[in-house]
Amino acid sequence: MMFIYIVSTVVVGFLTLVHWLLSPPRAIRDVPSISIPMYLYYFIGGKSREEIHDLLIKPALKKHGRVVRIWRFGSWVVMTTDPKITKTMFQDAKTFPKIGGRGKGLTDRFVGKSFVFKNGHEWLKDRKVVNPAFHRTWETGVFGDVAENTSELIRKSPNNVDILDMMNRATLDAMGRVVFDYDFEALTNPSNKYRQAYNNITSAMASPIRFLFPVIDSFGFESTKKAYRDMDTFDELIYKLIKDRKEAALNRKKLGVRLADDDRGKADLLTLMTDAVYNSDAEGEDLEYNEENLRNNVILFYIAGHDTTSFSLTYAILELARNPDVQAKGRSEVIAALKSDGVANPYSVTPTYEQQKRFNLVDQIIRETQRKNPIFTMLSRKIAKPVQIDKYNFPPGTIISTYVYGLHNDESIYPNPGKFDPSRFDDQSQEAKNRPPCSWLAFGAGIRQCIGTNFSMTEQRVLLAMLLLRFEWTLPKDSAYWTQTLSKNGFFAIPKDLYIDFKPLGQG
Ligand code: HEM
Repeated sequence: MMFIYIVSTVVVGFLTLVHWLLSPPRAIRDVPSISIPMYLYYFIGGKSREEIHDLLIKPALKKHGRVVRIWRFGSWVVMTTDPKITKTMFQDAKTFPKIGGRGKGLTDRFVGKSFVFKNGHEWLKDRKVVNPAFHRTWETGVFGDVAENTSELIRKSPNNVDILDMMNRATLDAMGRVVFDYDFEALTNPSNKYRQAYNNITSAMASPIRFLFPVIDSFGFESTKKAYRDMDTFDELIYKLIKDRKEAALNRKKLGVRLADDDRGKADLLTLMTDAVYNSDAEGEDLEYNEENLRNNVILFYIAGHDTTSFSLTYAILELARNPDVQAKGRSEVIAALKSDGVANPYSVTPTYEQQKRFNLVDQIIRETQRKNPIFTMLSRKIAKPVQIDKYNFPPGTIISTYVYGLHNDESIYPNPGKFDPSRFDDQSQEAKNRPPCSWLAFGAGIRQCIGTNFSMTEQRVLLAMLLLRFEWTLPKDSAYWTQTLSKNGFFAIPKDLYIDFKPLGQG
């Protein structure tokens, strides 16, 4: 009897919890819904982002129009593919502020109170410290070193290269050096303890079950505790580097010395941020900026800039593997651009910041890659005051998301969206001229647009150009990627089980 009582209490408790978790707020009940059972069935069954779109979301958008609701990330959101609504969302940051962290859980602990979660004055205060570090021309030498190390590894074992792992290591080495001049040796020494700690943290954060039920972070599982220990290890490195940079900045302040323009061009981001804080004439609240804020910014750059760039490069390599004609044209463009700039042997140089601006097709390849395979499937905001969207009135607190993947693959905006066609991003093309604003959102839009756009684009152009000069590549004959793209669902879309066959080319 007692047993039946306990079992029925547990069952009723569980069903109440599920009902509470899955019930939409009253304010959005009129919005047509994407079926939760089907979404969970596909998600938990491991269907790719692209499959869930084709099987479930695309038909729902076709049936109901550009505004639907979906249960995602543990809560209900209103989801749109309408560029006009999106434009309003990104332009009016007061009505549509960023959501803010949940305050607990792995990601929140790692990213801390960084400015990606802040709004208004609080956000601006951080951006004042960070902006000067990003508004610059980028030294490409670091990216050249990384491209050389990557090429060396590929040459040793050119077939069936796990390209995501390779790009992940390449971009971690680039980030380490650009952000705080530290070599993670991800391409050359897999046992570096800080690299291992970082990888453990990011894979714990990327777990799909955490994505669906963030509440599990509070259950104290061993995997969560391990991720916290790894965060302590990573923090140890960052705080040491901050201490060094702070001392140097305070010394410069004592001597009344500013960083020379040339030094600024070469300096890492942490040096520029510590200099903005500790070697400035600012007084008052700016001086309240502390080491924890700097630490949070550095972590944010890793979370926002590392995986995103490595996924983007991986998708670009995939698209070029499937489209050998575009790959060949890209290679010819790089050779011609460097030769026209007086470089006798393009193979022997790292393209400079100025030279890579001549890579029009390479640039279009990256943009078209990110159109077809955006890294952020959705971009979300929380409504701050009552607002009418489409035919609905939403109260403050409603979460609204632009479904970037759906928008980028909408045939009324990008005809034949499944086709990889970089010429769509030729500004002179009719398709580009007809496109409404806010219909390419790989880096977001408005004042909260990605601060690392220029950095990431430079890194991608240089790495792709150097790989094009050194290799031809294709998919293995039996690869599923010949006919489909398979991305893991999560906060970011991640290409899974993708292998590439490389063929080294002669040296010019
Ligand atoms: C292919 C690479 C990248 C992609 C696809 C990407 C994408 C984005 C997007 C879509 C946003 C806007 C999010 C929103 O509106 O909610 C964003 C913001 C941001 N990104 Fe990136 N990003 C990339 C690389 C980078 C890099 C290299 C860095 C830094 C080193 C970086 C740092 C940031 C930061 C700090 C923000 C927040 C800006 C703010 O709220 O003021 N990103 N990124």
